[in-house]
Amino acid sequence: MDLKFTEEHEMMRKMVRDFAEKDVAPLAAELDEKGEVPFENIKTMGRLGLLGLTAPEEYGGCGADTISYVIAIEELSKACASTAIVMAVQNSLVNYGLTKFGTEEQKQKYLTKLVTGEWIGAFALTEPGAGSDAAAQRTTAVRDGDFYVLNGTKHFITNGGFADVVIVFAMTDKSRGSRGISAFIVEKTFPGFSVGKEENKMGIRGTNTSELIFEDCRVPAENLLGKEGQGFKIAMIALDAGRIGVGAQAVGIAQAAFEAAVEYAKTREQFGGPISRLQAIQWMIADMATRIEAARLLVYNAALKKDSGERFTKEAAMAKLYASETADFVVDRALQIHGGYGYMKEYPVERYYRDARITRIYEGTNEIQRLVIAHQVLR
Ligand code: CAA
Repeated sequence: MDLKFTEEHEMMRKMVRDFAEKDVAPLAAELDEKGEVPFENIKTMGRLGLLGLTAPEEYGGCGADTISYVIAIEELSKACASTAIVMAVQNSLVNYGLTKFGTEEQKQKYLTKLVTGEWIGAFALTEPGAGSDAAAQRTTAVRDGDFYVLNGTKHFITNGGFADVVIVFAMTDKSRGSRGISAFIVEKTFPGFSVGKEENKMGIRGTNTSELIFEDCRVPAENLLGKEGQGFKIAMIALDAGRIGVGAQAVGIAQAAFEAAVEYAKTREQFGGPISRLQAIQWMIADMATRIEAARLLVYNAALKKDSGERFTKEAAMAKLYASETADFVVDRALQIHGGYGYMKEYPVERYYRDARITRIYEGTNEIQRLVIAHQVLR
C-alpha cells in the first residue's frame, strides 16, 4: 500500500473536522434522543461539496478521490454517525451508481442536483423478504408503452422518508433470477409512490429509515438505470463502494469512543490515582488503539484499490468486516473503562455503543462480507 496524504487530503480533513466540531457534534446527542434528522447540516454538507465529493466535476461534483471520501466520513462519524451515513449513502449508493451506469441525460437531470444537496437520494434494494438474499426481489416492474409500472414494498431504506429520488431495484424477468433484476430512478412525485412506516431504531437515530411503497407506480422508460437485467450488478457495484463508507464510519465511531475512553481513564481516579496507570486499563487501550489502526489501514487500502480502477470487492468487504467488528470491540471496551458512567446517557459512549452496532449489519451483514471475501479468494 502506497499511502501518502496530499495537501488536498489534509485540507479536506481540516475542513470537515471544523464543520464536524462546530455544527455536527453539538447536535448529535439531541438528534439521537429525539430521533430527528439534521436537515440544516445536510444542507451545509451540500454547500461544502460533501454530498458530491467523489462525483465528476463536469456534473458539479468535487471529483475527489476515495481517500478524501473516507477521511470525510471518518471525521463526521466521530461527531455524529447519523450525519455521516447521509453523506455516505448519497456519494456511494446513489451518485456512484448514477455516474457509472447513468445516461448523459440522467446524469444531467439527477446527478447535478444530488451533488449540491438540492436533492437527496436513497437506495431501495432491501425488502421484507430480500435482505441478505438480495436477489429474492418481489417488487416487479412491467413495461407498459413508454413506462414501467412498479409494484412492491421496500423497507429499511436510509433517507427513504425524505429522499427526492430513489434508485429502486425490481424484477423485470423473474425467470432469469438475479439477471432479471433492473434498476430505476424514481422521483418521489411519481404517481403510485409513497412512504410507509418510519422505523424507531436502537442507534443512528438521527437518520430516517423508512418503508417505501410502490402501487402501480409509473416510471418513464428513460429512467431505467443501465440495461434491463443489469440491476443486480449495479446494486452490488454500488454496495462495494458503500461498504468502504461503512468501514470509514465504523473507524470514526471507534475513534470517538477511544478518545473518550482515554480521556476518562486519565481523569478518573480510583485506588489513589488515575485509572490509566492500571494495567487492566492499559491493555484495553493498547488493543483498542491497535485494532483501530489496522481497521483504518484496511479502509484506506480499499479506497486506494477503488481509485486504482481495479475491482475492489474483496478489499471493501474486508474493510467493512474488520472495521465494524473493531468498532464493536472498541465501544464495548470504552464503555467498560467508563464503568457505570458509561451506561448513562450523559456520556456519549452510550450513544457510540448503540451507533456502532448497525455497521455489522447494513450494506451487507458481516456474514455476507465473509461470503464475498471467500468467493473472491476461491474463484
Ligand atoms: N460486482 C460486480 N458484479 C457482481 C458483484 C460485484 N461486487 N457481486 C455479484 N456480482 C454479479 C456476479 O458476478 C453474478 O453475475 P452473473 O449473473 O453474470 O454471473 C451476479 O452478480 C450474481 O452473483 P452471485 O451469484 O454471487 O449472487 P448471490 O445471489 O449468490 O449473492 C450476495 C450475492 C453477495 C449474497 C448478495 O446478495 C449480497 O451482497 N447480499 C447482501 C445485500 C446487501 O448488502 N444489502 C444491503 C442493503 S442496502 C443498505 O443496507 C443500504 C442502506 O440503506 C444504508
